[in-house]
Amino acid sequence: MKETAYSAFGSTRPVIDIGGERVRWFCTRMISNDSVLEQVLREVVQSGKGEKISRFTVRVISEGDLSPACQFLLAGSGFKQEAKIIVGGERGLVITYIGKCLETRRSNAADVVQEKSMLAAILTRTPKGASGLLADFEQMSGFEIQRVGPDSLSAGDVDHLTCLHGKVFPTFPYDFRQKLRIMRSDPETYLMVVARSCLNGQIHAFSNLEINTLQLDDGSSLRLAEYDNSMRTPSTLSDVAVNGLGSALRLQLAMLAEQNDVDVCHAESRAGLVAINAASHNLGMRLGGALEKHLLISGECDIVYQAPSRFETMNVWYLDREALGKIRSECEAA
Ligand SMILES: CC(C)(COP(=O)(O)OP(=O)(O)OC[C@H]1O[C@@H](n2cnc3c(N)ncnc32)[C@H](O)[C@@H]1OP(=O)(O)O)[C@@H](O)C(=O)NCCC(=O)NCCS
Repeated sequence: MKETAYSAFGSTRPVIDIGGERVRWFCTRMISNDSVLEQVLREVVQSGKGEKISRFTVRVISEGDLSPACQFLLAGSGFKQEAKIIVGGERGLVITYIGKCLETRRSNAADVVQEKSMLAAILTRTPKGASGLLADFEQMSGFEIQRVGPDSLSAGDVDHLTCLHGKVFPTFPYDFRQKLRIMRSDPETYLMVVARSCLNGQIHAFSNLEINTLQLDDGSSLRLAEYDNSMRTPSTLSDVAVNGLGSALRLQLAMLAEQNDVDVCHAESRAGLVAINAASHNLGMRLGGALEKHLLISGECDIVYQAPSRFETMNVWYLDREALGKIRSECEAA
């Protein structure tokens, strides 16, 4: 896989995200026993030495659930098993997120209560599923969902998307114009979709998937898709009804993930925001856990966090091959 700047995936080596004050790593070593995991954790901590780091985070892969090993090995270390993605398949692969925040970066207890109760309320609802979301979209008039490639965004579209991104993520840590340039130059890694007004061609929502094939150290590979940059025109800035476009694009990208033969399609979604978590649940995504104060998306502009930390907790949601197949069947039947 290509490792590029601004990748949602990150890196197969431990890297320092300076703005995010964290070490992040997608480790491709198969965790076959406790000592491999111990070594990985030592390396995560070691890579942050001498840097301004308040969080250490690593994703590891194993055959089967690492929970028992984590319970034993992580005790007293400050590291937690924060989330897991059950990839399944013949080998029963599991991706486990392990993380540690320093005291200065821990979540405020009141924020956690609010995030958990919001999530609990979402989880009590029956997911709409692909057919429900398609039916919702059919009721919305005046939008067309388009897959966009390197040449199908005009200069005006790029300006508009950059401006939209600036509005929905007012203090985002990187330049979206530059990210769009990277995405347009690599259409195999970045699958982009937009919702356009049929009336004037204006884009009202955007999202993309980042696809990576990981070569694991045992010679096998894992194909991953990750949602990124989900945004739509805020209702307050739109003279047409735009609610529902976020879910429509999430569904469209799930279908593209399925066509691209991925093992798992996942999202890290801001825990303080109802819409993105509700959209994931409605699509039938499974909840994998929460990454404490994982990164910096947009400061305190649209979600107000209480002290001590302005970083954002992210909920992990995913679709395995079976769930992706179900989405395809429902869409074909609709
Ligand atoms: C995330 C985003 C793209 C979702 O798009 P959207 O068009 O708002 O999504 P939808 O309208 O399909 O809403 C999804 C669900 O959330 C619900 N929802 C949305 N806002 C809500 C709120 N404030 N309170 C309760 N429910 C809400 C909707 O009712 C819908 O559920 P339902 O279909 O069961 O009724 C959009 O909200 C956005 O641009 N947010 C700002 C950028 C951002 O933070 N992106 C996520 C990065 S991780």
